Amino acid sequence: MYRSDSVKDDDAERTAFRKTEKQYKLYYNTNAKSSKKKKLPIPVDLSEVIDFKSILESYASDGELPIGVSKLECNFDRPVFCLVDCPGFYFIAAALSIEEQCRWIKESLVSFPQPPNRTNHNAMYGAVHDLFDAAKDRKLLVEEEKIVGGDSLTGVNDNVCSRRWACSEELDSSLGGKTCKSIPASVLLRKLRWSTLGLQFDWSKRSYNVSLPHNKIPDALCQLAKKMAAPAMPVGEEFKPEAAIVNYFGSGDMLGGHLDDMEADWNKPIVSMSLGCKAIFLLGGKSRNDQPLAMFLRSGDIVLMSGEARERFHGVPRIFTDTENAEITALEKRLSDENDICYLDYIKTSRININIRQVF
Ligand code: OGA
Ligand code: MN
Repeated sequence: MYRSDSVKDDDAERTAFRKTEKQYKLYYNTNAKSSKKKKLPIPVDLSEVIDFKSILESYASDGELPIGVSKLECNFDRPVFCLVDCPGFYFIAAALSIEEQCRWIKESLVSFPQPPNRTNHNAMYGAVHDLFDAAKDRKLLVEEEKIVGGDSLTGVNDNVCSRRWACSEELDSSLGGKTCKSIPASVLLRKLRWSTLGLQFDWSKRSYNVSLPHNKIPDALCQLAKKMAAPAMPVGEEFKPEAAIVNYFGSGDMLGGHLDDMEADWNKPIVSMSLGCKAIFLLGGKSRNDQPLAMFLRSGDIVLMSGEARERFHGVPRIFTDTENAEITALEKRLSDENDICYLDYIKTSRININIRQVF
């Protein structure tokens, strides 16, 4: 498992990748003077971070590109940028419209975590249905222990635990003694780290487990992934989306440096879309000792990694949840309707990444 919220601090064994992760990671300054001890993020030097938004803007105005960046010759409906020294890496800035971003944020919260898709909560709570609605309705997941048989002599009971959503009033009045544990849905939503669509990825074995029950990737997401993958596909071939991993990031969360190496054909791209708060993406080399490049990922950006780029370590050391740097004002406006407040509340302090893969 490569997701890590804590990166080893041992100086001696720190690689160039780890050092750069540490450089961008969120650290807090506790302001001792303030009575509330308000935590403030320590400012980070962002001058070295590649910014494809400004590259796109200057390219649109004067056709100029910075050294090291080129534009792919292809008949895609918007510029696809490449890094001269990283074949197989493509960046499509602002590829998704605000409407599309809202749509995929909603799907990522409401439908993608639904069983049979698995999430990080499966290990502890089994299949959890309707998490987002339960959080919206302030429900609690209660674990009830039912005594289904027992031995009065030994006192050993055959207990069965079942879980269901309940509202707090119900919990106060009727459940009393029967309840073992309860946890608010809002806490579970905050702790949602990943969900898997299509073929299910087994994190413990770091491989796809084709025997797990699963649904096909929804057609609209397939169509989108096929379209976005096209610039990175071998000529005449069409991308087949078979699996997707949805990552959910809150403030302070990071995705440690890793390779995605469980897919059969690395010439097929991974299509990776960013939604919500801005993040820093690190693109390293084939070794963790290679100095990575840092770049911003904003809501609506798409990254493709295929061929040689699939052999590069990469990760997300930082997301920006503060109002100025999250850069989600357009999204916030679009989600200002009363019915969308729950999505707005979530995405104001979160980032979602959907990465779509052809497995075979
Ligand atoms: C991944 C991944 C990148 C991102 O899930 O494998 O590399 O932008 N995600 O979150
Ligand atoms: Mn990855």
